[in-house]
Amino acid sequence: MITDILRKIILRRKDKFLFKSYREGMVDFDSIESNLGLYVHIPFCRSLCQYCPYNKTVYERDKAYEYKQALISELDLYKDRLKNKNITSVYIGGGTPTLLTDELKEVLELIKTEFHFSGDIGIEVHPAEADRKLFDTLQEIGVNLISMGIQTFNDRALKFLGRGYVSRDAEKALALVKEYGFKCVDADIMTNLPGQTMEDIKYDIRKAYSYGIDQLSVYPLIIFPMTKMGRAIRENGLSRFSNLYENKILRTIDDISAESGYKRSSVWTYGKDGGNRYTSVTRESFIGLGAGASSLIDGYFYLNTFNVDGYIKRLGERKLPINLVNRMSDRDKMMFWIFWRCYDGEIDGSRFTKLFKGDMKKEFPLLFTMLKLLGMAKEQGGRFALTEWGRYAYHLVEKQYSVGYLNDLWQASMEQPWIKEIRL
Ligand SMILES: C[S@@+](CC[C@H](N)C(=O)[O-])C[C@H]1O[C@@H](n2cnc3c(N)ncnc32)[C@H](O)[C@@H]1O
Repeated sequence: MITDILRKIILRRKDKFLFKSYREGMVDFDSIESNLGLYVHIPFCRSLCQYCPYNKTVYERDKAYEYKQALISELDLYKDRLKNKNITSVYIGGGTPTLLTDELKEVLELIKTEFHFSGDIGIEVHPAEADRKLFDTLQEIGVNLISMGIQTFNDRALKFLGRGYVSRDAEKALALVKEYGFKCVDADIMTNLPGQTMEDIKYDIRKAYSYGIDQLSVYPLIIFPMTKMGRAIRENGLSRFSNLYENKILRTIDDISAESGYKRSSVWTYGKDGGNRYTSVTRESFIGLGAGASSLIDGYFYLNTFNVDGYIKRLGERKLPINLVNRMSDRDKMMFWIFWRCYDGEIDGSRFTKLFKGDMKKEFPLLFTMLKLLGMAKEQGGRFALTEWGRYAYHLVEKQYSVGYLNDLWQASMEQPWIKEIRL
């Protein structure tokens, strides 16, 4: 209901978003922006975490090999379409992408030799996979940004989450990765886990900082209804902090970060002044490769099939594995951009004008008036910076977007390899 209201008031849209099944010629690839990011999705994990909403399946060696071949074919299909474009970053996420490090070597080689690529290469590392051999290889293949999926240093919570390692392994992994001098080492920590106390959260944050990481990403656990954990919580009602208490958690993390010499660099991240960042989700335009990857290019948001076999088969036929396409209106495009700038913590009016040839305050008068009136953002020289309360409100909207929209889109995509049409 809240997503319906937001859609109607802010986007002035009566209808739901329509995703249609992809046909050749439906996406105008000529409209791709001159600079864009690449995202590569690796949907394999040793075991599946019960809270995780991302597209994933249990690792099988032969399947992984076929998947790599399919990724190479997909890149090949984009070669002409991206001929005159600059690729400014590559992010590899999952799943557990480091299960396919040897395969990724080939994929990255192709990106470097066949495309105009210059920029950072980031990857998500599962602590159980972290050892010298892995980091040597990552360094050798040109990866320079590392995101460590620590989640927590509490053994009981790690067991509950089904992460497959204990806190000592997570600590060893952080100590080891810091020896390598990567451009950025990020650690992901989740908060508001069932049964967690504020003291547990403070311990996790301080512990992560004690390893001299470049960036901390904190995520209050979102319970996606489609996940195993979503079902378990519906049935057994596990104890968690309230929405309101999540605000207290965020403020406490702000304080510990300040004590430790880190400043908030986006809604969920903290970094050292002038430090390098790991920011996979905030590109203005990107192409996603792999099963379940999404792409955002001028006027189009589209998703590949989530089904690994379907993905491999389609690429075997030398066809793009796109399943669903949402044609965005000008207003959708602007709002989508604003949504992700809020994630960055700041909306720059001059950038909006450059991209959309308009004035954002005139396009969305209600939104910007409310942001100011309710004290959610402060305006300074054409920029709107979210206040602490604004950040918390954004968190609530993002949560709603996740459970009320992404959950349904992803669940349907996991259930059917080729969806004909979906309205959300
Ligand atoms: C794309 S996921 C990385 C997945 C990676 N396989 C891992 O867990 O190590 C990025 C981060 O999102 C966070 N995350 C995953 N599921 C979440 C959920 N249900 N609610 C909040 N944060 C979540 C975790 O901190 C995770 O490290």
